[in-house]
Amino acid sequence: MGNADAGKRIVMQGNDQGTTACVSCHGADGEGNPAAGFPRLAGLSDKYLSKQLRDYRQGTRSNPVMQPIAAALEQQQLLDVAAYYAGQVPTNTADDAAPPDGGRKLALRGDWDNTIPACVSCHGPGGHGVDPYFPALAGQHASYIQSQLEAWRKGSRHNDTNDLMRVVAERLSQTQIQAVSEYFAAQPAVKPAPGAEQ
Ligand code: HEC
Ligand code: HEC
Repeated sequence: MGNADAGKRIVMQGNDQGTTACVSCHGADGEGNPAAGFPRLAGLSDKYLSKQLRDYRQGTRSNPVMQPIAAALEQQQLLDVAAYYAGQVPTNTADDAAPPDGGRKLALRGDWDNTIPACVSCHGPGGHGVDPYFPALAGQHASYIQSQLEAWRKGSRHNDTNDLMRVVAERLSQTQIQAVSEYFAAQPAVKPAPGAEQ
């Protein structure tokens, strides 16, 4: 189990093995930074987050910025930072881009002519994620969503069980990638109260 208080110290200050403070890129509220391509971490599940940190360490998810940072976290510290971010409530407001219609249709219904399932069939209603392993896409930054879809296409991210995301990503056109990324970025990050209309 991760300890969120211990995690908070690392997030704010880094550790003495050379991990830099996470807040310097992911923001004080875990909100990320769309211009720089830093993802929102606030409110993602702790199992998903700790899996990603392990994946960077093992290299099934390859990224020159995050790999050394994850490698400098001890096993317990990795669980601690994941627990901290999982407990943060996302503050993201929708990114500016107006969601193009094509993105909405693809997200909610898929594109069966090209055997692409609806994104929400795995990522949950509204794209709010299905804990613990299907991450939320609602309120994630469009630039980051796009970069991940491209990472699966070129194989620098291959940490998805049964290639679930690779088979989706490799069927998407460039236009669909952009449209669906902007669609999810424009959705509210926080789930509506149970029973409320989407
Ligand atoms: C220098 C900037 C920087 C710092 C510092 C940083 N990150 Fe990151 N982080 C990134 C970038 C860039 C990505 C996206 C990389 C990619 O495309 O895979 C990322 C991605 C992630 C992801 C994957 C999120 C997802 O939705 O899959 C996690 C988890 C993460 N960072 C955790 C941390 C933690 C914990 C710390 C501190 C110990 C930290 N990061 C420090 C830049 C940074
Ligand atoms: C068959 C199930 C499935 C479908 C359909 C699916 N995904 Fe995923 N997706 C996953 C899984 C599983 C992961 C997490 C992989 C991992 O462990 O890193 C994921 C992760 C992602 C991520 C990375 C999020 C992050 O925080 O790094 C993005 C972006 C993404 N999916 C976008 C999409 C889009 C857009 C669609 C629709 C076009 C889609 N997915 C459809 C299963 C699916």
